[in-house]
Amino acid sequence: MTDSNDPLSGYTRRNFLSDLGRTGGAGAMYAAMGALGLFAPPLGAKTVDFVRPGPPRRGGNVVILGAGIAGLTAAYELGNAGYRVTLLEARTRGGGRNWTARGGDTATETDGITQTCRFDRDQYMNMGPARLPQHHVTIDYCRELGVPLEIFTNQNADAYYYNEGPQFGSMSGVKVRHRTAKADAYGYIAELLSKATNQGALDAQLTSQDKELLIALLSNWGGLTGGTYQGNSRRGYKTPPGAAAQTGVVDLPPYSLSQILQSRFGLNFSFEFGWDQAMLMFQPVGGMDAIVKAFERAIRPRVKSIYGAAVAGIYNTANGVRVVYTDGSRVAKQIEADYCICTIPPQILKNIPSNFSPAVQSALGVPVPVSTGKIGLQYRRRFWEEDEGIMGGITNTNLNLATIWYPSYGYLTKKGVVIGYYNFGAAANFYSDLSPAAREREAITQGAKIHGPAYIDELENSFSVSWLKTPFSEGGWVSWPTSGGQRVPAYTLLNQPEGRVHFAGDHLSYYIAWQAGAIESARKAVMEIAQRVAA
Ligand code: PHE
Repeated sequence: MTDSNDPLSGYTRRNFLSDLGRTGGAGAMYAAMGALGLFAPPLGAKTVDFVRPGPPRRGGNVVILGAGIAGLTAAYELGNAGYRVTLLEARTRGGGRNWTARGGDTATETDGITQTCRFDRDQYMNMGPARLPQHHVTIDYCRELGVPLEIFTNQNADAYYYNEGPQFGSMSGVKVRHRTAKADAYGYIAELLSKATNQGALDAQLTSQDKELLIALLSNWGGLTGGTYQGNSRRGYKTPPGAAAQTGVVDLPPYSLSQILQSRFGLNFSFEFGWDQAMLMFQPVGGMDAIVKAFERAIRPRVKSIYGAAVAGIYNTANGVRVVYTDGSRVAKQIEADYCICTIPPQILKNIPSNFSPAVQSALGVPVPVSTGKIGLQYRRRFWEEDEGIMGGITNTNLNLATIWYPSYGYLTKKGVVIGYYNFGAAANFYSDLSPAAREREAITQGAKIHGPAYIDELENSFSVSWLKTPFSEGGWVSWPTSGGQRVPAYTLLNQPEGRVHFAGDHLSYYIAWQAGAIESARKAVMEIAQRVAA
């Protein structure tokens, strides 16, 4: 029951991971996901070798449902090629889950509660996607569309690990910098392995020259002194080095081996080894929606976009497709086209009337929506920078927050928006069920355990999202059940056109929960339609 490329696939797996989340912290969960190979597409592979379509000779009328990243990509590619494209979007903004919240924005969740964002000018938070690895196709579109990028700090040696609970023993409730936990864990592991090597325990595996080389590597990697780990400046300083006689006072002694194992901090380490999570990572300057704006600018001359248009029916006809939509006026409207690219998430699409086959209809109910959420906390003072020396990056905790993200923009300025939680599964559901005010209260109460009173006192306002309760999404992403290590047949089925309707979206890729998945999937649909039009 594994899907090697599906973050959080399957119910059992999710239980397992959320159990881990509770006992070992979010880092343990990420690490387990990494160890299970959950983030690993083939090295260097774009999932589809994309060939840009040429101009259609006939039958080039395409309706695209959803102006998220998949829909925008399809509109951009088909529009550029000379197709006549209509893009329907239920929301009054494009981007889908690519959503950047700024002061004045409002959002109403499915329980009818409306929040208004009160961030200052120049402050923002990315509600959905927030980090781009260097190798994703998303970067290629940023280049082509002129979207300026800056570094997103996904790992910071000075951010914290913090776990709480009886299983952590004396490490419960102790916040430790990433660098300190790594110095101690690497140090002890290196010491143990070099002792085992010296005692001959690995003689069957190693030549004497390899033994020597391994000992040298371990000594260097673990920061050993005479084969043992005694702690060193990699942990940090009590008093840093300075002028003249100030040699610096290293923060010693190290935690004991037993303490460092009990802390489970080491279960966070492999997150940054992940194919998609390794530094360097990037973000568009000024907010992730710069990608959306750039797409919208690029398609404007060629594509007819209708926003505020909720799809109310999708029908294959004798030689085309008919899409019914409502735009707030009393009568439903309809569009006829030669082909349709439908990027509506399956959990939404399954409730929209259509004449899809029973097999397709039932396949739409197979992927399981995954719960995820975030809160942005606007602080009047960047105390994480000023008091704690944390310039961006992420703190990992087993608190229901899972992670705290420090902004990777606006360093050294006055104010800043911290992501107070980004979590999924049970923790996300917990916050999803709270009112916006209660989410804020809980987030700062928990976060103050790590950052102290400033975390409560310096707060100005907050803005949060539950993706499960966000209309037209109703989930952060989906998880595909698997059988024998493969995604179930419903996945394959939805990757084939239903009549003249081609489905697309990150849920139909092996880059689930990444914009790259939406782009790759959209480009596949574009090529398929181009082939049909050419035939
Ligand atoms: N892309 C999202 C993120 O980076 C969701 C995700 C999390 C995807 C973990 C894969 C692994 O947070």
